Amino acid sequence: QSYDFLDVREKIHHLPQDMVSLIEVVKKVAKEENTKVFIVGGFVRDLLLNRKNFDLDFVVEGDAIKLAEKVNKRLQGRLVTHKKFQTAVVKLPQQPHIDFVSARREYYEYPAALPKVEKSTIWNDLFRRDFTINCMAIELNGEKEYQLIDYFSGLDDLSDGLIRALYNLSFIEDPTRIFRAIRFASRLGFSIEEETKKFILQAVNDHMINKLSQDRIREEIHGIFKDENLINSLALMKELNIFKSLNQGQDISMKEIQKIENIPNTLEVFNTIKREDIRYADIIVQQLLSGIPMELIPKIINNYVSYRQSYHGIIEGLRKKNRVYSILWSENVDLYEVYALLEFATDEMLIFYYNDCENNDIRHYLLYYKLKLQSINTIITGQDLLTLGITPGPLFKRILKEVLKAKVQGYIYTKEDEMAYAKKLYKNYLEMS
Ligand code: CTP
Repeated sequence: QSYDFLDVREKIHHLPQDMVSLIEVVKKVAKEENTKVFIVGGFVRDLLLNRKNFDLDFVVEGDAIKLAEKVNKRLQGRLVTHKKFQTAVVKLPQQPHIDFVSARREYYEYPAALPKVEKSTIWNDLFRRDFTINCMAIELNGEKEYQLIDYFSGLDDLSDGLIRALYNLSFIEDPTRIFRAIRFASRLGFSIEEETKKFILQAVNDHMINKLSQDRIREEIHGIFKDENLINSLALMKELNIFKSLNQGQDISMKEIQKIENIPNTLEVFNTIKREDIRYADIIVQQLLSGIPMELIPKIINNYVSYRQSYHGIIEGLRKKNRVYSILWSENVDLYEVYALLEFATDEMLIFYYNDCENNDIRHYLLYYKLKLQSINTIITGQDLLTLGITPGPLFKRILKEVLKAKVQGYIYTKEDEMAYAKKLYKNYLEMS
């Protein structure tokens, strides 16, 4: 595939009209202010790949905030500025945000630290970035209007399908780039260039990932979950020792990764459950961690999900897994036992068990529970028992439970059946006492 950068102007003019107008406004204001402005980063990459991207990032060789103020005046949007970082965002209703940043050089005082920033040129601004394909810019004004700036051979890597870091310390300085390399490789169907792979392995083996906060690790992992070609990403994470690093030395097997590929099919089997109603990531995490020794789980799970949201559910689902399988796999399974066994389970857990167990008997009961048993309840209530002359107390609960049991087991169906059965149970009780 070849990307003819001479047609950048044309590519831009083929974008949606409101986007072209935005770019034209920025270009015009920059010209009036005699300030050089560049479009940079992901937008340029995706423009050359003909992929949609509506996040416009502008780098200004000069005062980004001042320029953003002028642009905002023309566009009548809302301006948010950060003086400390020399950045500004113009927010427009129903349109992409437009970010402005002063060209800067960044340096790191120690690994994984927040970078120190100083104003600089476009070259330095591009050099501080992650991968060559993200380091290209389009000059908007000046003598190279609408030309591609490509100091680091990003265009070659784009056409060769390679994710290449700019320098060896890139992943040491910013370990989130380890995850970004994987995400871009999977999304674009690219390979991680061999030397870059070595840099990543070095950083991972030097425990750089653990220098990140668990919040940031989770954010990156969920970025991978939501992006394209998840299985490829997980296989790359394994290849690059990332799971070992996240799991205190325990790897994740290819088998678990392959099972994750099957989750969408499993979800289709449970066709009453809508994807938007479940935490899809919880199912992925349960499947990923299902081969990890239980005692390690509480120590590593925060790398995958936050304590407040999914922590307890995932641990419970994993802890009860073997019990669920052994009961559902035994001979003569009683339907009420299935009902009582799975009452605790969320939809995410049911889907996970079905996906994980690889056994048709267990699968049958899981599905039967979800589609039939789960929604069963008695029609009669305490009020109805009162009409039978039963006095309120523990007996109430016992009779209702027995009625429910008979209903789950399929012996009774209608309200009349339930009443008759309650009556019979009460009679038996009176005779016994
Ligand atoms: N960048 C970087 N290192 C990071 C994060 C970002 O060098 N850890 C740079 C890259 O040049 C990137 C740009 O900042 O292109 C914008 O970052 P971001 O919006 O996160 O990425 P995009 O490339 O726009 O990708 P996406 O399509 O996922 O938004």
